[in-house]
Amino acid sequence: MRKSLFTASLMALAIAAPAANAYQAGDIILRAGAITVDPHESSSDIWVGALSTDVAGTSATLDSDTQLGLNFAYMLTSNIGLELLAASPFSHDVGVKGMPGGFSGLNGKLGELKQLPPTLSVVYYPLDSASAFQPYMGLGINYTWFFDDKLSSEAEGKGFSGLDMKDSWGLAAQVGMDYMLSDNLLLNAQVRYIDIDTTGTTTFAGAKVKVDVDVDPLVYMVGLGYKF
Ligand code: NI
Repeated sequence: MRKSLFTASLMALAIAAPAANAYQAGDIILRAGAITVDPHESSSDIWVGALSTDVAGTSATLDSDTQLGLNFAYMLTSNIGLELLAASPFSHDVGVKGMPGGFSGLNGKLGELKQLPPTLSVVYYPLDSASAFQPYMGLGINYTWFFDDKLSSEAEGKGFSGLDMKDSWGLAAQVGMDYMLSDNLLLNAQVRYIDIDTTGTTTFAGAKVKVDVDVDPLVYMVGLGYKF
């Protein structure tokens, strides 16, 4: 009787206790999940060298992509951490729209590019480390590396040659939340804005075609994490 009462009160204690302690200085947190880069898709008019002018009403397009996202975080204190965002390479279609009249045949898919946007952030967790729920906000620096930029064969058929996107440095801001499922396992959701500005260059009919693109994506990730 005494023994079962003791067991029952231990169980009640376990249920009543906070699920787990969250972060302490020195903790390493690894998060993995599905990450989507959704470009804002705003660009300047396209400069067409063969016409020596910006063509009003034209723009570049960039679609969204989902990949495997990774976060490596290191807690400097129980409230402040450093975090690196990594991912498998994102792939985006690049397009042209708004070309008027006789040039309307140039609208459509121009090609594809890949990019990696490593971002290093300082992250602040305002709640006490005893809380299993840990919302956070962060500010960081992003470097976006564009690679494998290549024209589609259709675009080459239309007379384009070469495609290059300039790499970008910019600031990033994020909010997110971790929920400790146990001492080590956690659920995570996060969204960040990254200031990515690039210039895309190709050649049409032997003359340069250029466009400034504010990629400025919203980046969403949901996944699981593990605290070491
Ligand atoms: Ni921007």
